[in-house]
Amino acid sequence: MNHPRIQRAPLRTASIVGLGSYVPERVMTNADLERMVETSDEWITTRTGIRERRIAGASETTSDMALEAARRAMTAAGVTAGDIDLIIVATITPDMPFPSTACLVQQKLGADRAVAFDIEAACSGFVYALDIGARFVEAGAHETVLIIGAEKMSSVVDWTDRNTCVLFGDGAGAAVLKHRPGARGLLTASLGSDGSKAGLLELPGGGSACPATAESVAGRRHFLRMDGKETFKNAVQAMVSASNEVLERCGLSIDQIRCVIPHQANQRILSAVGERLGATAEQVFVNVDRYGNTSAASVGIAMDEAVREGRIRRGDLVLLVVFGAGLTWGAAVLEW
Ligand code: UT7
Repeated sequence: MNHPRIQRAPLRTASIVGLGSYVPERVMTNADLERMVETSDEWITTRTGIRERRIAGASETTSDMALEAARRAMTAAGVTAGDIDLIIVATITPDMPFPSTACLVQQKLGADRAVAFDIEAACSGFVYALDIGARFVEAGAHETVLIIGAEKMSSVVDWTDRNTCVLFGDGAGAAVLKHRPGARGLLTASLGSDGSKAGLLELPGGGSACPATAESVAGRRHFLRMDGKETFKNAVQAMVSASNEVLERCGLSIDQIRCVIPHQANQRILSAVGERLGATAEQVFVNVDRYGNTSAASVGIAMDEAVREGRIRRGDLVLLVVFGAGLTWGAAVLEW
């Protein structure tokens, strides 16, 4: 499943110079879900580790959450809207099929000079956006790049399906990428995809294959569906192998990594990946208990919290690892 990639040796390095995140105010607890579907706090906690998740307001859009995370990342980075050359938004819950959410964020930010586009790699979106954005910086094509993972998963969750509705939450994470002289920044990244398993996790309706009709709505085809067990197995395997690949490329062992930031899908996946990598529980950052699975937003939110909590300090090596629908996966090593 892995493809050889050339080790990064750019003339200019790309660093994350500011992080920001946003989660909506409304908390939905497992007790709230017990009143909606046939489930229990005990089942959700033991099978997933999730205790609560955030749910966006009815009129709060993905671009609104992206904007707030972006503003916080820009403040942390000390850059203004006029400095941004490129905006990449990773999302599977855009405000609308088109225009892109990135263009809507550009307008809301007033980042008039920026080129803006979306990418879609589901829960792997943040690391995909990081790799793409860093390449523009390394190539000298753009000076200041804003990447955002943002999702309103509550808008595509089937609130009558207990298999999936307990898992997801809303939010956004953002990072500003620039060349920081003297810093190594992103050391390497590896992305992978396997479209032969597209059916494991999908939202079948609303595109050209199944345009919206009264029947498609009645058939609940505009909600996400997942084969949880198969997705789980593929997630653990792909996340471990992508992590090992990037560590090997950098000549690093897991004990040299200060903090592992995995996509927050399920505590059992985080534990299995951590164990197989030989990481201690202290090395693996977890916030799935508070936010559930926020898809493309999860790694951005987690990394921002890890930095603010002092779990990552300047010069530390960080491993990011993600997995999502597509299938897609990826891992990256960076020096903070
Ligand atoms: O972000 C992209 C990646 N996403 C993931 O990686 C998610 C991966 N999958 C998972 O996290 C897990 O597979 C789940 C949490 C979704 C499910 O856990 P599981 O241990 O694989 O449970 P299961 O699907 O095998 O279901 C076990 C039982 C079933 O009942 P029966 O058939 O054994 O009678 C389900 O109907 O649990 C039942 N069940 C529930 N019971 C109470 C499923 N959902 C619920 C629920 N509450 N919410």
